[in-house]
Formats: sequence, C-alpha cells, structure tokens
Amino acid sequence: MPRRFYIRTYGCQMNVHDSDKLANLLLHAGWAQAESDGPCELLIINTCSIREKAENKLYSDLGALREWKDEVPGRALGVGGCVAQQEGDAILRRFGHLDFVFGTHNLRWVPEMAEAAFDGMREARTGTTASLERFDLPERHPEFRASTPGRAFLTVMEGCDMFCSFCIVPTTRGREISRPAQGILDEAAALAKTGVRQLTLLGQTVNAYGRHDQRRAQTAETGTMGFAALVRRLAEIPGIERIRYTSPHPLFFDEALVRAHAEVPELCPHVHLPLQSGSNRILEAMRRRYTAEEYSRWAEALKAARPGLVLTTDVIVGFPGETEADFEATLALVEALAFVDAYTFKYSPRPGTPAAQLTEGSVPADVAQDRLERLQDLLRRLTLAAHRARVGETTEILVEGPSRRARERPDQPAQIRGRDPQHRVVNAEHSAPGGSLVQVEIVEATPHSLIGRPVPEEGATLTRGKRTADEEGRLSAPS
Ligand code: 5AD
Ligand code: SF4
Repeated sequence: MPRRFYIRTYGCQMNVHDSDKLANLLLHAGWAQAESDGPCELLIINTCSIREKAENKLYSDLGALREWKDEVPGRALGVGGCVAQQEGDAILRRFGHLDFVFGTHNLRWVPEMAEAAFDGMREARTGTTASLERFDLPERHPEFRASTPGRAFLTVMEGCDMFCSFCIVPTTRGREISRPAQGILDEAAALAKTGVRQLTLLGQTVNAYGRHDQRRAQTAETGTMGFAALVRRLAEIPGIERIRYTSPHPLFFDEALVRAHAEVPELCPHVHLPLQSGSNRILEAMRRRYTAEEYSRWAEALKAARPGLVLTTDVIVGFPGETEADFEATLALVEALAFVDAYTFKYSPRPGTPAAQLTEGSVPADVAQDRLERLQDLLRRLTLAAHRARVGETTEILVEGPSRRARERPDQPAQIRGRDPQHRVVNAEHSAPGGSLVQVEIVEATPHSLIGRPVPEEGATLTRGKRTADEEGRLSAPS
C-alpha cells in the first residue's frame, strides 16, 4: 500500500493553492492522500506569517505534534510556507522531531525531502530563485481531489515588489515574477477539460501581471502580456464560464482592465480590492502608493463598467500613528464605497518590516479592538443592506456541494450551497451536484448569505452561451 500524506494549510489562497500543488507532486511521486492526519505517514504544515497570531499557531501546533510523531514509528513531519521561508534552519533546530523545512520556492523538492526523511535525514531548503522553472508543474494527477468542484486556482504571477511598510510578504514570497502566458492558457484549457468552470487567477499583486516585462519591452522573450489581455484570452477557452482574480493592487488598474469588466461576460462582477485605510496620511505611512481619492476613482470606474459589480476589501486598523480622525476617514470611505464585505485586521508588527520600527504613535490594544468592532458593525450593516437589495433578482450559482443544513439535517429536503457571480454564498433547495450551474431567484437575505429558489431554465438545457470543453470536443470531432 502506498504511504499516505496529509497537508494542513493556514493562510491565504496562495497557500491553499500551494498545498494543492504539493498534493499533486506527492501523488505523482507515488504517495496517496489521507483524509486526516490520523492515518498518515507524512504530515506537512503549510504555514502563514502575515500576522503574529498565524505564526504562533505553527509553534503551538509543532509542540503538540511531538506526540503524533512518537505514536507510530516511521512518521515524517515537514513544514513549508511563509514561516518556513523566514525561519528556515532555526525551526529545525528548535523542534527535534521535525524532519524537513521547505521555503516558498521549493515545493518541487518536497517528494525528495520526504523520502530522505524516512532515511533519517533532516534538512531545510529555503533558497530563492528568479527562474520560471517553478511554474513548470505536472498536470493534475488522476487521483487529485479538488476541494472545490468546478473551480480552480490558477497562478499567473508570484512574489511582490511593493514593500508596503507593514507587510512580510515580499520577504517570504520573494521578487515579483510573471508566468509565461502559454503555460497559463494550457493549464486553463486542461482544467476546463476536467470540468472546471471557474478560474481564480492568483498573484500577490495579480493585476501587475507582465508589467516588468512590458516596461522593459521584454514580453517577446518572456511570453507575457498585459493582465487585461490575458483575461480576454482565458475567457475564450471553451468551458470557462467565470473568471475571478485575487488580489489586485489599486496601483495597477488601468483602462484596459476596466474595459474588460464591461466587455468580457466571463469576468465576474466582483473585485476584491484591498484598501487598508481611508486616510491619506496612513496610506502614505503604509507605503501603499495611492490616495483615497485615486482608490475611489478606480472603484467607481469598475462599478460603472459593470452594473451590479460588488467590491470587497481588506482593512487594517490600529496602524502606528492612526488617530481617531484617520479611523473615521476609513469608516467614511468604507460607507461611501458601500463594500459588500471585508476582511478586517488589527495591525500586527512583523519583524524586519519598516512599520515594525515605528515607535511613535502606537495604538493601544483596547483602542485598536474598539476600532475593529466599530468597523465590523458598519460592515455588517453594509452586507445586510447589499443582500436585501438582491431579493427578487434571478442569478446563477456554481454549486459547491450540500449546504450545512443538508449535512446536519439529512431528514430535511436536499439543499445546496453555491456562489453567485458576485461570490456571495447562496443556499437553495436543490440536489444538483458540486460543479454544476443552477438558476435561482433570490427570495431571502440573511446577514451572511442569500437564500435562493430554483427557477426553471428557459428553452433548451444549454442556457449558457458557451459550450463546455466536452461538448466542444464532441461538436468539433470529424463526422
Ligand atoms: N498586520 C495586519 N494586517 C496585515 N495584513 C498584511 N500584513 C499585515 C499586518 N502586518 C493584511 C492586509 C492584507 C491582508 C492579506 O492582510 O490587509 O491585504
Ligand atoms: Fe504585502 Fe503590499 Fe505586497 Fe500586498 S502589495 S503582498 S500588502 S507588500
């Protein structure tokens, strides 16, 4: 029987996707994927260091895993991701039961390192590279189990050259690098053939895709293009019905991308656009390189380009020097732009970042907590208002699977959970399988989701303008 692995993932979508890539590499190397960390021989923790809390989680987990390691002889334990990149060898030294550590540019070595661990070797590989090689990963293994049916992440660029003063990512993920377009298009086409209908294009500053190559007039050598052009090419792929991207940086919006939102129906009417603060003084201290006014102009342009477009965002409260007036400017802007949802964070100093050196004006913990709660109150109000405004609308959901109610109350009528094009969660009484598209009418709004009622599809079963990759294949086959 093949040895089994399990991967625990913390942090952002990049990490979730890295864990997918890792799982795929291990499957190709002959491993089997376990359902939990109980019955497995290899456990990998993919870590996050964006805030102190996330980093501390690794250390408490690792302590607890001493027992897991001793329970069954011949088990191996590995740590990857952002904390691994930052700490490298130091984690190996601190935790004697840890076998290997791999950095964010070293996924491809994991099968080899895991193998060596069973021969008693302990090793940390955290070297960084500017090579495009890291994008050359094998296609999905037949045994690969997608956690999200019908949806897939697709890496278009990696790393970050922005160096916002609070952020550890440029250190943990390295320099910005864009993947050649052909590799992206080929992977998208292969995913579509396996039934993927929604692509989420991934990159730390995803809409910066290709910018360095364009500036140096090197796109011919590197095979990249502008981000909007890439989106248009992806939208042409048969079977791809929805395209999303995360996370864009406000600095890299341009008219071409706004126009794509108006003209490319596959491009979803939802943009997650990190704001961080509504105060120009704080934005400058954060080195975000835009003003609240510039941010608002792009936000309004996007909403004007695509009616019904939903904006969500990230906000940090309690950045050093943030006064009550600065915070009120954030509240006012969040309200004015009517974000439908947001991830909200209390500032967490990260070692080695410029903001961690700011000793003046640090915001007391209770003040930061109070601001966080006030911001969250406002967002709850905005979310509910946005949801209520949708009641009566007909929309299409991409089914994720049975809803929580269906899982907990099998005696009740079948209910599914899905996402509409705005990425809102919609529950509806239906039994369609994960990965399918279902038409619903929104009948009720709740603070966290929408409730839909299935509506009969008009005309033929093919309600979408596009054929699936399968149908395309069949239709274009010689007769
Ligand atoms: N403290 C708090 N929040 C942070 N983020 C990034 N770094 C920090 C930090 N040091 C938030 C930002 C970013 C999101 C992914 O995490 O809002 O957009
Ligand atoms: Fe961090 Fe700023 Fe880069 Fe985003 S753009 S990953 S916040 S440095």
